[in-house]
Amino acid sequence: MTIFVANANGKVGQDLIAALTAGGHDVRIGARDVARARAAFPGVAVVPFDYDDVAAGTAALDGVTAVFTAAPSWLVPHAELALLEAAKARGVRRIVKLSYLGAELHEEGGHRITEKAIEASGLEWTVLRPTFFNQNFSTMHLASIRDGAFYEAAGDGASAFIDTRDIAAVAVKALTEAGHHGQAYALTGPEALTRHEAAAKLSAALGRPVRYVPIDDAALRQALVGVPQSQIELLSGLFAAVRAGHTAGITDTVRTLLGRDPIGFDRYAADHAALWRDAA
Ligand SMILES: NC(=O)c1ccc[n+]([C@@H]2O[C@H](COP(=O)([O-])OP(=O)(O)OC[C@H]3O[C@@H](n4cnc5c(N)ncnc54)[C@H](OP(=O)(O)O)[C@@H]3O)[C@@H](O)[C@H]2O)c1
Repeated sequence: MTIFVANANGKVGQDLIAALTAGGHDVRIGARDVARARAAFPGVAVVPFDYDDVAAGTAALDGVTAVFTAAPSWLVPHAELALLEAAKARGVRRIVKLSYLGAELHEEGGHRITEKAIEASGLEWTVLRPTFFNQNFSTMHLASIRDGAFYEAAGDGASAFIDTRDIAAVAVKALTEAGHHGQAYALTGPEALTRHEAAAKLSAALGRPVRYVPIDDAALRQALVGVPQSQIELLSGLFAAVRAGHTAGITDTVRTLLGRDPIGFDRYAADHAALWRDAA
């Protein structure tokens, strides 16, 4: 059984590949930046795969039984629809898709369009709907946190941040076990935190102050100049939902599926403190 993981250099993709290989599963990695993926996962098969040109990468699916897809959101749905068609044509039996919490509320949204195509595909399918990742703080906010602050349009809204290692652990189950077909899993971490509370936890882990600076929607849009309009609208809508208090809900799905507590923000911050400290 060969599992194809697209977006090997993505936040969930990296943790998923680590978990699958640790579990002894046969993994094939699809990466746009092949050299980066090879360096990160020596000994694992890496093939070129670009969501911008799925047709050029379909040979990556030869002999594959299960696919994990986590396309950049501005390439959803079209790139994932192309991947789904290629997977069906090449005899893939199972697909697991990374979506986002609340995707089902936006029938015309790109993620929901992909979800519906997957549901109707005849393949075994599982959809993962996580909320905001802890790991955003150690990737997209890495440089600014090193400078002592991060900026988001989240107001005082709380989010039940989830760790990508937990999403990956759920994905391993969906890809390799029976019993997950037809499921859409709403995934959160164990506690809802405002960005001010997250900043306090980061400060404690680093031993120096980290501030959260709230920005408004206009400033968010200005900061995203050059980003595809669909992505701007997605992020603007997501942060409006945070400000309105809609992302504070906690689900029990991770605990139920993994049989252990989800990773909390304190552990995440402690695990990554050296990263933020490096350039200080
Ligand atoms: N971040 C969150 O909090 C969050 C929460 C819920 C759901 N999601 C969903 O999760 C998915 C991933 O989002 P993310 O923000 O976490 O990003 P990500 O998975 O960390 O993806 C970043 C990676 O995308 C790769 N990439 C960019 N363009 C590509 C292309 N054309 N073909 C192949 N790979 C490409 C880049 O890899 P290279 O290094 O190879 O160029 C980059 O490393 C999105 O659909 C998003 O809606 C995210």
